[in-house]
Amino acid sequence: MCGIVGLVSDSEISIKEDLLKSLKRLEYRGYDSVGCADTKGNVEKDVGEISKFMEQIKDSKASCAISHTRWATHGGVTKTNSHPHWDCKKKLFIVHNGIIDNYQEIKNELIDKDHVFVTQTDSEVISHFLEEELKSKNMVEAIKSFIKRIHGTYAILIIEKDNNTIYAIKKDSPLVLGLAKDRFYLASDIYAFSDATNKAIFFEDEEFAIVDSNKYNFYDSDGKEIKKEIYEFAWDLYQEESVQNYPHYMIKEIHEQPTASQRLINSLDGEQNAKIKNIAELIKNSKSVVFTAAGSSYYASLLGIYFLNRIGINAQTLIASEFHNFMLVDKDTLFIAISQSGETMDVVSATKWAKERGAKIVSIVNVPHSTLQRMSDISLEIHAGPEICVAATKTFTNQVVALLYLSSLLGFTVNMQTIPGKIDYVIKENEDIVRDIADGLCDKKDIYILGRGLCYPPSREIALKLKEISYIHAEGMMGGELKHGTIALIEEGTPVIALIPGKDYDMYSNAKEVEARGAKIITMANMMDSDFKIDVTINDGKFAILSVIIGQLLTYYIALKKNLPIDKPRNLAKSVTVK
Ligand code: AGP
Repeated sequence: MCGIVGLVSDSEISIKEDLLKSLKRLEYRGYDSVGCADTKGNVEKDVGEISKFMEQIKDSKASCAISHTRWATHGGVTKTNSHPHWDCKKKLFIVHNGIIDNYQEIKNELIDKDHVFVTQTDSEVISHFLEEELKSKNMVEAIKSFIKRIHGTYAILIIEKDNNTIYAIKKDSPLVLGLAKDRFYLASDIYAFSDATNKAIFFEDEEFAIVDSNKYNFYDSDGKEIKKEIYEFAWDLYQEESVQNYPHYMIKEIHEQPTASQRLINSLDGEQNAKIKNIAELIKNSKSVVFTAAGSSYYASLLGIYFLNRIGINAQTLIASEFHNFMLVDKDTLFIAISQSGETMDVVSATKWAKERGAKIVSIVNVPHSTLQRMSDISLEIHAGPEICVAATKTFTNQVVALLYLSSLLGFTVNMQTIPGKIDYVIKENEDIVRDIADGLCDKKDIYILGRGLCYPPSREIALKLKEISYIHAEGMMGGELKHGTIALIEEGTPVIALIPGKDYDMYSNAKEVEARGAKIITMANMMDSDFKIDVTINDGKFAILSVIIGQLLTYYIALKKNLPIDKPRNLAKSVTVK
């Protein structure tokens, strides 16, 4: 998944101050390398993050330019493989988000026609394919044959030397036109230009647009001009927050959770109340209720079905990338997709698959106007505010708060109003304790987290945090499952975090089983009559949310101690917009 931004204006724009600043707002989509090109033929690109790139290049001005921040899929993280890519004559430049499935076949054909490729990427076929087509066609006809011939996912921006026009094509990967006062933006999502305008036009699949400084035209895959609706999006001020005086976005966003959860609860009591009551009614009256999500959002969905099953509602959830292989849906299915970005390709694809089979589509998202929200019959917003750190923290918590609220409308007993205060309390009470625990875990290679029932999803989520941010191999497991094999890996001193809410004697026994084999047990627990020392006391029914918050803090302080790149961990991106 990558981020792309193009700008075209009737006056010259600054590549650094205008184009790259806008691209930086999409850096959460990938930050392996960065590059830009303008219609004067200037091209700059290099590995590394945008801020470093902005320091190393000299500023320049242009009326039309494109840019790209990369998360590598095909081809290593090298300067050559960075976007933009160009044709043989270096007159046509492209940036691409997505994957061209049949690139090898196309590349071989073009090499047979004497095209010279310089990268190992799939994307470079785009510039050479168009170059070949333009030998006998105009750009509209060339794009039409591109759409017909190329298989895969793409959001592409194309410019030609000495022609202040951007050509943009979309299929599966997100693309949006921003209409600002004196310029047009073309970007992967509205966050690229939400500080400059609230007017946007969203591309649908196999549409393309031709945009110059005075006008824009949209076309369907047959080249027929189409009228598109301008979307005025609301953008709350809290959406534009900076890291303030925190050292990292992650710790800022962890500390924001009391405020973010309160903002959501107010919204669910207020402007979103009718919507969430409607979703509750749909759950009550649907023959089958299935959730799908990826990563942290999947672990939130696991908690959602736990709450619903407790009140007799048979709900299921499945990881989005395998949803079509292991789940059936039909017109009687209520399909609920959870995705903070609303752009995760696995989730968008599963939603498209369910929609094609007649399911009613509900989504729970954090980013307004995201692809997933626009595909849904009903979409609930979790109002966590922009989450810049790649690791989900406040968005996970708000997803669970939304699912708790939804379940409470169906009979699950919970006092929603106490949640923000409890989160605030558990952070204040435990941050120093957790920091000390983190010191003792920094050099560990493996950590196991055990939980049963309500604490099983938190065990998985805490493990994910530890893996993606502190680079420690961690496994979250059902407490009862460890002894069916994995216990063979327990050695003297292996750290095992046991989540023991209340008097969960089975979980207590599971912890004793591994302690007997030399494990170093770290407990997150309510008061319990046992000889375990309680390392972190969580005295509350919101144990699922509160234990994850302790896990977030633990991960942060381990990564801090290891001096790791916390907000932008290696190999990752915030929004995974490829399959
Ligand atoms: C969470 O910390 C990870 N960054 C990742 O697992 C994430 O939850 C997953 O990619 C799903 O993202 P989404 O909620 O935007 O769909």
